[in-house]
Amino acid sequence: MWGINRPPAPDRGPTLRPAAITIPLMSLAAEYRQQFTWRSWSLIFEEVPLQPGQTILDLGCGIGDQARELASRGCKVIGLDGNQELIDAAILEQPPNCEFLTCDLRNPPNPGIRVDGIWSSFVAAYFTNLVELLRRWSPVLSPEGWIAITEIDDFFGHEPLSPRTKSLLQAFADDALTAGRYDFHMGGKLQSCLAQAGFAVSRVLTLPDRELSFQGAAPPEVVEAWRTRFQRMPRLQAICGSEFANVQEEFLSCLSRHDHVSTAKVISCIAMKSADS
Ligand SMILES: C[S@@+](CC[C@H](N)C(=O)[O-])C[C@H]1O[C@@H](n2cnc3c(N)ncnc32)[C@H](O)[C@@H]1O
Repeated sequence: MWGINRPPAPDRGPTLRPAAITIPLMSLAAEYRQQFTWRSWSLIFEEVPLQPGQTILDLGCGIGDQARELASRGCKVIGLDGNQELIDAAILEQPPNCEFLTCDLRNPPNPGIRVDGIWSSFVAAYFTNLVELLRRWSPVLSPEGWIAITEIDDFFGHEPLSPRTKSLLQAFADDALTAGRYDFHMGGKLQSCLAQAGFAVSRVLTLPDRELSFQGAAPPEVVEAWRTRFQRMPRLQAICGSEFANVQEEFLSCLSRHDHVSTAKVISCIAMKSADS
């Protein structure tokens, strides 16, 4: 239906695998599967104007966990992602009423149909010019359609951390933003990006998250997930140089402390397509 050709590999930003470090692909799929259990999906689904029979696009669907959940609510879901291995993992699961296709989101195909909803979770930060991306996808959404975007704000916002560790993490975030790879503060920009792209924001949620935004000590599996994430950040390693091990260990210790506090927030914005967009 979509006639989507396999795109060149997209720039997947700083949290994805570097060419220089080999991590088995299924481990990334397994990581995503584990992360699914830590998010507050049901709180978002409750607020999205989902109706049985709707056709929904899931932009950056990863291994298809959210597509499966949306389809279980009576919708047909088309999941798009630039990572062929993740798409293969999604297809392998064979969730009913889901179709998964490889697509570079920077180049929307002409599908020949309009969808009722666009879902995108933890993908927006990869697009430092999100307004431009939203404008490109807007024509695919029907005039009455909805869009739900979820993203983290202040990704490394965890306390207490030393000033030195904070400044190295900030240097890494600044470098990613300047290079157009990733915006670690995208969660707080969703609302204005949607408005600038012509959408009418109807709901903004701040969600608890067992890995990304929580208070008190993290369980060991969450600390291990963060350790794996740090190992997937070669640019952070380069920026920290010989201090990388210290930065990583201080950050992981911070997550394990009983007085740990997240300033990081998971934000979900739900919007309708404005009449004039
Ligand atoms: C952090 S994962 C989120 C996966 C899933 N949406 C979730 O919430 O668990 C980000 C996803 O965005 C995809 N992605 C990033 N940049 C992309 C691009 N330019 N085109 C297509 N997919 C992209 C990655 O392949 C990855 O699957």
